Amino acid sequence: QRPGHVSVVIVGATGDLAKKYLWKGFFQLYVNQVSRGNTFSFYGGGLSPADKATPLFFEILKAVSCPKDVSQERCALLKEQFLRLSQYRQLKTLEHYQDLAKRIEKHHQDEGMTEAGRLFYLSVPAFAYADIADKINNSCRPTGGAWLRVVLEKPFGHDFASAQVLASQLESSLREQEMYRIDHYLGKQVIAKILPFRIENKKFLDPIWNRHHIERVEIVLKETLDVKGRIPFYDQYGVIRDVIQNHLTEVMMLLTMRLPLNLSSSEEVARNKLRILSSVLPLVKTQAVIGQYRAYKSEVQQELNKTKGHVSLTPTFAAVLAHIDEAQYEGVPVLFISGKMLDERVGYARILFRNDVFCLQSHDSVHCKPKQIVFHFGHGSLRYPAILVSKNLFKPVSTDGEWKEVTEHSDVNVLGLPVSDYYVQTPTEQREAYEELIPHIFAGHKNSFISTENLLASWALWTPLLNSLDSSFPLIYPGGADNGDLLDVRLTGKDISYSSEVVIISPDQMGG
Ligand code: BG6
Repeated sequence: QRPGHVSVVIVGATGDLAKKYLWKGFFQLYVNQVSRGNTFSFYGGGLSPADKATPLFFEILKAVSCPKDVSQERCALLKEQFLRLSQYRQLKTLEHYQDLAKRIEKHHQDEGMTEAGRLFYLSVPAFAYADIADKINNSCRPTGGAWLRVVLEKPFGHDFASAQVLASQLESSLREQEMYRIDHYLGKQVIAKILPFRIENKKFLDPIWNRHHIERVEIVLKETLDVKGRIPFYDQYGVIRDVIQNHLTEVMMLLTMRLPLNLSSSEEVARNKLRILSSVLPLVKTQAVIGQYRAYKSEVQQELNKTKGHVSLTPTFAAVLAHIDEAQYEGVPVLFISGKMLDERVGYARILFRNDVFCLQSHDSVHCKPKQIVFHFGHGSLRYPAILVSKNLFKPVSTDGEWKEVTEHSDVNVLGLPVSDYYVQTPTEQREAYEELIPHIFAGHKNSFISTENLLASWALWTPLLNSLDSSFPLIYPGGADNGDLLDVRLTGKDISYSSEVVIISPDQMGG
C-alpha cells in the first residue's frame, strides 16, 4: 500500500478494551511506523462531549507502555508526539462524523499530505455497529484511492439469523474488503503459528495427519474466573456463544483445514477454512455436556435484579464432540471444552496420535508415552505460549527466527508428559494478541480476520445445537478447584460422557 497519512479513529475511545489494549497497540504501531514514512492522526471518539471526556482520554493515552526495544528517552519523545497527534471528539450524530471528515481533510490540505487511509475501530457494543457504519459510509469515506478499514469486535450476532441481519446491515454500508472482524484468538502467537508450523513440518505431518494416526483432537479453554460484573451480557450468550463458536472454532479450522498454497492469500485461507467448517457434521445434543457453576444463579439474581426463584439455564461450561465429514478425518473425535470457574486457567489444542506400539510392559516408557502435539496458548502449568511436540513423534523445524527452542521448566507436566519429553518452541518475545493484530489491519492483511461467509458458516454450525440446548438444564458444578467430576469428560468410543457422580439438579431444585 502507498505510504502517506493515516487517520485512526477509535470509537469507544475510553472504554475498557481501548484502555487495556487498543491505545497501547496503536502507540506501538506508531512507534514502528513513524520511521517508515507514514504519518498519523489519532482520534478518540465517544458519545460524551469533548470537555467531559478529554481529560480521561489523555490520562489513558499517557499511561500506555512503550515497546520493549525502545529506550526510555526515545519513548518519552515519541509519547509526546503521540499525544500531540491525538484528540478526543464527540461522535454521536451524523454532523459529528461530518465534522470529523472535514477535520481530516483540512489537516491533509494544511499539511500538504497524501492520504493513505482511514481506520475506524468500533470498540462499542455490537448493536451500535450498523448505525456507525452507516454514518462512516455517508460522511467519512476517503477519496483519491485511499483505503477505508472498519474494525469490529465480537459478538457478531447471537445466532445464525441475527448474525445474518447484522451482516446484511453492514454490507449496505461497507464492502467486504473494508471490514476487519476481530477474533483476538487469531492474534495469539501460538494460534497464528498453527498454519506456518503445519507447513514447515509438512514432511513429518503429512503421513500422520489423518484418521489412521490421529486418535483425537481437543480444543480447550479453561478459565478460573467467574462472570461477575458481566452477567447482563453473559447471561444472554453463555459459553458456547462466548468462546466456542468463535475462538475455539477458529482454532479447529486452522488445525484441520487443507493447507493453503499461499499463506498470504487471505482468499485461499478463507476458502479452505470455509470448506472444513462446512464439512463438520451437524452437532447433536447427545454429544454435548453443559454445566453451570453453582454461584452463577445468585449472581444472575443480583445483577439482573431477579427474584430468588429465577432460574437461568445459561451454560458456563460446555464440552461438545464434533466429527468432520472428510475422508482424512473420518471418525476422529474433535472435542471442544470450555468453562468458567474451573480448576485452572489454561488454553490449548492437542492432537493426540494413536500409540501404535503395543505396550507390553508399562515401564516401556519411551514407546508408551502419549504421542502428541500441543499448541499451548498460554497460562496453565507451563505459563508461556508454546508448541510442544512429544519427542517420540519428530523433531520440528521452524524457519521463523522469532521462535526459539526451550529447555527450561523441564519437570513441569503438560498434558501427561514432562516438558523434557517434548521438543518445545516458544516465541522469542511474547506479545499480546492486539499488538499482533493491529499491524495486520494497518498492512491490510486480512488473513487473521473473519470473513462474512465464514462467520455465517460458523453460526450455521452452532445454531442448531444452541437451539436444541435452549431449554436443557445444565449440570451444576461447584466452581473452583473442586470440579473433578464435571471435568472428567470422557470419550467412550465415539461418545462423550462424564462421571456419573455429577449432580444433575432438577428444575425444581434449580428454582428453589
Ligand atoms: C473473550 C470472552 O472473548 O475471551 C471472555 O468474552 C473470555 O469470556 C476471553 O474470558 C478469553 O480470552 P483470553 O485471551 O483471556 O484467553
